[in-house]
Amino acid sequence: MAHTGDSILILDFGSQYTQLIARRVRELGVYAEILPCTAKLSEIQEFNPLAIILSGSPYSVYAPDAPRCAPEVFTMGRPILGLCYGLQLIAAQMGGEVDKFAKREYGRAELIVEDKKAKLFKDIPPHSTVWMSHGDSLSKIPEGFHITARSTNAPLAGIANEDESIIGIQFHPEVVHTECGRQILSNFLFDIAHAQANWSPRDYIESTVAEIKARVGDATVICALSGGVDSAVASVLVHRAIGKQLKCIHIDNGLMRRGESAEVVHTFRDHFGIDLDFRDASDLFLDRLAGVTDPEQKRKIIGKAFIDVLAEEAEKFLGAKFLVQGTIYPDVIESLSFKGPSATIKSHHNVGGLPEKMDLKLIEPLRELFKDEVRNVGRALGIPEHFIDRHPFPGPGLAIRVIGDITKAKLEMLRSADSIFIEELRSWKLYATTWQAFTVILPVQTVGVMGDERTYENVVALRAVTSVDGMTADWARLPHEFLAHVSNRIANEVRGLSRVVYDISSKPPATIEWE
Ligand code: XMP
Repeated sequence: MAHTGDSILILDFGSQYTQLIARRVRELGVYAEILPCTAKLSEIQEFNPLAIILSGSPYSVYAPDAPRCAPEVFTMGRPILGLCYGLQLIAAQMGGEVDKFAKREYGRAELIVEDKKAKLFKDIPPHSTVWMSHGDSLSKIPEGFHITARSTNAPLAGIANEDESIIGIQFHPEVVHTECGRQILSNFLFDIAHAQANWSPRDYIESTVAEIKARVGDATVICALSGGVDSAVASVLVHRAIGKQLKCIHIDNGLMRRGESAEVVHTFRDHFGIDLDFRDASDLFLDRLAGVTDPEQKRKIIGKAFIDVLAEEAEKFLGAKFLVQGTIYPDVIESLSFKGPSATIKSHHNVGGLPEKMDLKLIEPLRELFKDEVRNVGRALGIPEHFIDRHPFPGPGLAIRVIGDITKAKLEMLRSADSIFIEELRSWKLYATTWQAFTVILPVQTVGVMGDERTYENVVALRAVTSVDGMTADWARLPHEFLAHVSNRIANEVRGLSRVVYDISSKPPATIEWE
């Protein structure tokens, strides 16, 4: 672990908000990590948390398969804050009762503070709006506890033991709809757990650099620099630790956007002085993809080709002992979830059996960071802003944005349309407010007219979405004049594209990519 100061442990019982709790705590300057509720006591003790937060859960505490944590958690002598299910678990574990048939509360509710002296509610008005999401309610509090708050539908919305070392609240302070959520979490961290706010990108860089140096010694480390934010930040961080011992490889798979490979080489070789090899493998990738239309098959071919090329390149560094990967915290949490690893591990993080085959150990310097923290670390490392603020770009690249079979001609059309769209988004100052934007070539041709001639050409779709994490998304309400301008430029400047459509689907039911 790269953090040496106070750490908060969040035990995950399966709530959709667990990640959010960690983010909020870190936003307050305190390091937090998530472990599944099934974590062994020894693991929890080793983590040595300053305080523990119990997350919510879709389960009912009395369900036969209801998730539990090691009972010793409650006697470790560390402050505990239970949220929603966490509160009910405290009650169930310590002799209270939960009523399954109580009135349900979903959405906004009014919180009424009963115990004006409760440290958790310091500076919280007597009445405020909170976000509830529960079926069961607490009906009897455990002995030694008292009521600290109630809500419109639940007489017991907050409880605490005498010295406020074990606290439960029925609502979710981590969601923005809870007006005073930030203050409540801050009260828990600083007034109850006495945490220090010492979590920042600079500290992270310093301790991670020291850790990498100690681990690597004088060994050689290799890294495939894709041009995405994560691998860029990871390699600059490792470079800061070990300099020329880091050997980066940028593979052009022929599915990058216009000028992308050149920019990666320029930024990292010239600007950062990173030892970077460039390999143009576009023919290999495009040959293997010829005639393939199924997106899953495209992904598999690209993944396999990537491993093949990287393995070939890595032969140059036979003594290498480590491989850098840009895994970030949401990927880690996904694979640690107590419900089991998710089936959707991102393909660009999945370098197949390469590390085993080549006997390489992984260095994942961003494993503990959320995306916005990765960006902040990147800024603190001096990576240019226009690189840091880039939209996400899928591992299989433009292959999933040419619907149907992939040809060089279609890729060129797509690159031209894409670069116009992105350039205009930047110049109209719409890029930063859009979560992701791109163009898609459709496998249909429609009739058009140019000059006096009838044409029969491809359709290009513009896709732009707003989102927080890509899990759900809405189509971006881009101004009509902007869309008109982009459509006009594409039709005039890109040969072979005469019809432009704008995608107005949200996710769900659609996805962000068209595939
Ligand atoms: P969807 O299309 O599933 O996309 O709504 C959600 C986010 O994931 C990206 N995406 C991918 N990223 N490999 C990746 O690395 C893939 O195969 C892949 N498919 C989708 C997509 O661009 C969006 O940001």
